[in-house]
Order: sequence, then C-alpha cells, then structure tokens
Amino acid sequence: MSDPIQALDARHIWHPFSQAETGPSLPVAVRGQGAWIETADGKRVLDLVSSWWVNLHGHGEPSIAAALARQAADLEQVIFADFTHEPAARLAAGLAAALPGDLNKVFYSDNGSTAVEVALKMALQYFQLVGQPGRTRLLGFDQGYHGDTVGAMSVGHSSGYFRAWSGMLFPVDMVPFPATWEGDAEVEAKEAQALASLDAKLGEDVAAVILEPLIQGAGGMRMCRPSFVSAVAQRVRQAGALLILDEVMTGFGRTGPLFACEKAGVVPDLICLSKGLTGGFLPMGATVARDGFCQAFIGQTLDRAFLHGHSYTANPLGCAAGLASLALLTGDDCTRRRLALEALQVERVRDLARRRPELQARSCGTIAALDLAEGSYGDGSGKALRERFWNAGMLIRPLGPTVYFLPPYCVTAEELTKAWDLLESALG
Ligand SMILES: Cc1ncc(COP(=O)(O)O)c(C=O)c1O
Repeated sequence: MSDPIQALDARHIWHPFSQAETGPSLPVAVRGQGAWIETADGKRVLDLVSSWWVNLHGHGEPSIAAALARQAADLEQVIFADFTHEPAARLAAGLAAALPGDLNKVFYSDNGSTAVEVALKMALQYFQLVGQPGRTRLLGFDQGYHGDTVGAMSVGHSSGYFRAWSGMLFPVDMVPFPATWEGDAEVEAKEAQALASLDAKLGEDVAAVILEPLIQGAGGMRMCRPSFVSAVAQRVRQAGALLILDEVMTGFGRTGPLFACEKAGVVPDLICLSKGLTGGFLPMGATVARDGFCQAFIGQTLDRAFLHGHSYTANPLGCAAGLASLALLTGDDCTRRRLALEALQVERVRDLARRRPELQARSCGTIAALDLAEGSYGDGSGKALRERFWNAGMLIRPLGPTVYFLPPYCVTAEELTKAWDLLESALG
C-alpha cells in the first residue's frame, strides 16, 4: 500500500458497513464536481448513488459552497436551547412552505436516524399528553429501514440488518409491503393483503405507523403505488393513530415532486427528513410536525415539553447549506432536470421490462432499480457488476441483488444513458 492516506486509513479508521479483512483498500477521494468524484490517482467516477443518496445538485455546487463559507465567517455554531438564528428560522419557514398541508413545526437533529428517533419519541409522548397513555405500540412495514439507532432499528428490524442487536430492540409488528414493478400483475392482490394485515394490527393500543412512502430504500429500492400510501394513511387516521412518513431518502425531489407524500395526496402527522436536506453538504436531520400535533406539548410545565436535543441541533452551517439547496431545488432549472431524468428512467425501465420481466425493473421519479436474482445484502451477487462499473468509471452500490441508479439531478442524459447501456450489456 503506497498511498500514505490509505496507510493511515488502514491503521486508524473503522469504515461503516464494511468488513476490513475482506474489503478492498478504498480509493482516496480528493475532489467532487457535479456528478463526478475524482480520486488521488487521477481517476474520475460518475456518482450514480449520490454518495449514499445525499447529493442533490452535484458535488461542490458553488452556490451552496459560497453560502457555507459566508455562514462560517458569521456564526459557525451556537447552543440552540438558548438562541435562535437566521439560517435556522429561514430554513424552517422554507421547509414549511415546501411541505404540504400544515407541516409547519420543524425540530432539527443530526441525521436520518435521529430524525426518526425524534418522531417515535414525539409520537409516544403525544399520547401521554392527550390522555391516551395506552397507545404505546408502533407498527412498521416489512423490510423497511429507518436508521441505525435503537428506536430506528426496532421499527426497521425486519430489514435484516440488525440481527446482532435483536436483544436490545423493542417489539414492533410489521405489515407486508406490496412491492411492485413494471408489468406486475399481482399488485392489487398484494395491496389488499397488506391492507388487511394493517387493519388487523391497528388496535387501540397503536400510537403510530411508520412508512417509507413510495420507495423502501435500503430494503432494496422496493416500490409501491401512491394509492397504497393513501390507503394506509386513511386507515391509520380512522384508527386514531399517528402516521409517520420517513422521507429521509424519498424527500427533496427524488420521487418526482418535492416530497413523496404529495404524490399520494397525504399529509402525515410527522415527516422525517435528512440526506438531501443540505444538498449533500453536511449531516443534518429534521422532523416536521403538523400544527395541531405540536399544541399537545404546549403548557406551563417542563414535563409537557419535548425534552430531547443534540449538541449540534440546528447547526448554522447545515441550515445555510439547506437554504441554498432549497433555493436551487425549487427553481425551474432543477424541476426541468428532474423531469428529464425521470423520463429517461421510465423509458429505459419500460423497455427493459418488456424484454426481461424477471428482473422486476421499476422506477419512481429519478430512481430506477432492478433485481439480478434472489439474494440478500452482502451476498455478493452485485459485486461483479459493481467492479465492471468501477472499471468503466461509474460508482454503483448494489443492495445485494438489487441494482439501482439514484444520481444527482445534474447528471446528463448522455452520462445516464452510458450507465444504462453498460448495465444492459452486462445483463447479457
Ligand atoms: C429511509 C431512511 N431512513 C433513515 C435513514 C437513516 O439515515 P442516516 O444514515 O442519516 O442515519 C436512512 C438511511 O439510509 C433511510 O434510507
């Protein structure tokens, strides 16, 4: 190993989701520009996974970089229990304006897992505050993934990632998720079965149901129809429980509209945001609640308050990045790019599905996916394909047998077409 950075890394760094013994020595990233990442040895790779689904407008996006630099010179961080500040207030107002309905109250945290953790804790405390302490149960969906902290792992326990920690998780009942694809003839039957299961589980002790709307990300880019999300929302509401939508991955335009819930015509009680929140520049999470929900926490005593916080809550740098990203996201140029990206994904998926229905090709907004074969995360079925893409200067990260393209919105039609052509030639 001749690179000194790789040597330091090998000695001192513990990488996420990685087996150091069997994994390759990782390339050293030195620069990011647009949809491209450059490594220390001069290789350029097309980032087809938006760097773990966070990057929206491209690496090094100049307007976000400039907003960050300006903010760093003014105020880098301040204790948010004792102060407010302009970027936090403006970003919260911007999110409220971008979100549907009366999702108006923003609670900032650090990442997707904490955004989920906050929503779960809020939901449970809410029912104590409104005099229904018996509502303590949470429901999730099969193969849903919500993050790596204990609450998030519990509501995502069927994703299969958390076997080592099963003893520390609290019990959460799972409802089937009617995953569907282009040309799926069974979708209605699967949805009916899932809704029947939900009906059976929605007892008076249920506090909240958590769902990744339209796409289960880490579970394998499993997609459902918007009408299923609406049907879930209706049932949850009728049962007097709360609906938490985890839009950590689907938020900020990935599925077409700014938020997946809009496609389903649903306003959840709580929505969890992160990843694209800062355009992919800084870690940050937000849990946004409806106006009525927040009222329950207002009173004369501290024990009615939501006693939760993180050292870096509402970090001004993250908020400044978020504001700059939101300005780009809501502009005409970004909308046009997302529409063009979506049209290309739809066309390639439809074409492939006609010829190779067994791959279960599917797309939703800017995201497209297919399954190589039956398998699970880490089983190596996508490994050869990943290597082939890497050698062609493109980064993919299959989830077991699931191959997907989730590029930043600045990717060009030519770049994405190259990725699809390579995928199809590899499929044979
Ligand atoms: C839907 C969803 N929720 C939560 C998380 C957790 O986010 P983080 O990795 O930022 O903690 C993820 C991460 O992939 C996710 O896809």
